[in-house]
Amino acid sequence: MDGVTVINHPLVQHKLTIMRKKETSTAGFRRLLREISTLLCYEVTRDLELTMETIETPMQTIQAPVLEGKKLVFASILRAGNGLLEGMLELVPSARVSHVGVYRDHETLEAVEYYFKAPESMSERLVIVVDPMLATGNSSIAAIDKLKERGATKLRFLCLLAAPEGIRNFQAAHPDVPIYTASIDSHLNEQGYIVPGLGDAGDRMYGTK
Ligand code: URA
Repeated sequence: MDGVTVINHPLVQHKLTIMRKKETSTAGFRRLLREISTLLCYEVTRDLELTMETIETPMQTIQAPVLEGKKLVFASILRAGNGLLEGMLELVPSARVSHVGVYRDHETLEAVEYYFKAPESMSERLVIVVDPMLATGNSSIAAIDKLKERGATKLRFLCLLAAPEGIRNFQAAHPDVPIYTASIDSHLNEQGYIVPGLGDAGDRMYGTK
């Protein structure tokens, strides 16, 4: 699928399978989400540009590569996005963080925004938007609308699972934003849940059901 990268790494796929199992505990789900998020972060940042810097090792002075440009922004779509955020920040501790509070109205399935915070100079930074589930696409579309309003121009979207319907909606609204996911599942059910999916990611991660 154009514009979508499926991260097929065996460790990602193995961990995702355990997360999908309904008997996986809250503690187990949370630990796996943290582990998988570092692997996903590794893949979504694999083509970042490098620049050379002069350093001294104990042996000699050399030119060595470091990340080019301003720091990254990780934009978490609350609340489930925070589950991906933690592991990503372990890998890129200097990243800036944006929080976008959007919830799904369970009747209309529309996104309702209730919180937004982002760092300055968004236009010079690569913004990686994270939410475990790309279901209808409504929340991620609304979050990216908001981030673009605040100046973001270079964005990527990272999720664990995506539904084909969500990908279509998302790409119609934001064709410039590449999607990274561990799986494209079969479809959405009438309640807007991904099938086969893993259930409600927020509830599974925080034990709220
Ligand atoms: N959000 C979830 O947490 N799970 C789904 O299946 C869809 C949206």
